[in-house]
Amino acid sequence: MFNYFSNAELIFGNDTSVNAHDQIINILGKNIFVVTDKGLTELGLFEPVVNKLKKNSNIKIFNDVESDPSKNTLLEAYKKASSFKSSGVLGFGGGSSMDVAKLVSLLLGSNQNIDTIWGVNNAKGPRIPLVLIPTTAGTGSEVTPISIITMDDKEKKGVSSKLILPDLAILDPLLTINLPPNITASTGIDAMVHAIEAYTSINPNNNPISKMLSIEALKFLGSSIKTAVFDGHNIIARSNMLFGSMLAGKAFANSPVAAVHALAYPIGGLFNISHGLSNSLVLPSVMKFNSIHKETKKNYANLAPFVFKDLDNSKSDEIVCNNFIDSLESLSKELKLPYRLRDLEIPEKACQLMASEAMKQTRLLVNNPRKIEESDAFNIYKSVW
Ligand SMILES: [Fe+2]
Repeated sequence: MFNYFSNAELIFGNDTSVNAHDQIINILGKNIFVVTDKGLTELGLFEPVVNKLKKNSNIKIFNDVESDPSKNTLLEAYKKASSFKSSGVLGFGGGSSMDVAKLVSLLLGSNQNIDTIWGVNNAKGPRIPLVLIPTTAGTGSEVTPISIITMDDKEKKGVSSKLILPDLAILDPLLTINLPPNITASTGIDAMVHAIEAYTSINPNNNPISKMLSIEALKFLGSSIKTAVFDGHNIIARSNMLFGSMLAGKAFANSPVAAVHALAYPIGGLFNISHGLSNSLVLPSVMKFNSIHKETKKNYANLAPFVFKDLDNSKSDEIVCNNFIDSLESLSKELKLPYRLRDLEIPEKACQLMASEAMKQTRLLVNNPRKIEESDAFNIYKSVW
């Protein structure tokens, strides 16, 4: 028995973000609150979208979302959206902007006390209408029921509720064409982690649809990540990355991620390292730790040829699994991503603090195929250091 849910509607294709203005207004109404960030404002990326919307609706732009958005930013956005009497929220940007947009629409619709929304299915709803437009290919936030916010003490807290799935997700590959190579690489690895962790999750709701989506996601991501990083204007590669990250999002929306994410969050929260890079740093070591588990070793071996089509999968699970982990490690290096914590000026003594912080991510750790104790987390951080 399993349960599978998904957002109502999705549009995919070049220029869809600009051409869907009537549909966006139909869903969001006359007072549209746009949640985005300063970088995208400077690039003018959302201007063509907003200029079309302005003809038939009132627009208020909130562009103060930072990466790893804080609770303060969320509250600030909520206050502004409330005084604007927003009829709907448009999230435009990477995972951070979309995550804030999701919770603004939830808080506006429900007036629920913010301290009671965190965790799995604690949001009461309803929310006001919500449309999400991603500008990176990685988080899959446009199709997931999850929003991650950084608390005052740097702990990351998540809301997981199907209430925050959007009414419409618009995936326009042209919006991702100018993403710099390092962001393309780290967000792309994040998407791969979503697929790998969804496939191997021991959550009771891991299901055949999520498994199928994980495999398909890895085919698109694995075949295109290098081209997208080194030839950013290749629109086919960009489309494949955006499509793959969406599929991976739909996979982990119903079969949640696990220890790679749990160990990545303290790196991001304590040292402001991007979510994608935090994931790519710990991915190989967590996989090595998990692969002691026989079933997981087999699962990793199953996935290997979908990411690396030249990887010889005729050998034993042990060999294929190890080659898979080694290839993922080499891929990060090839994509020029830092692969050691020390290279990011994270002190060795922080490994203990990060390990104890990671233990707070119980929502994720319960899904990991092998139980992780604090000492295990510490050893993993040490090996990455
Ligand atoms: Fe992620």
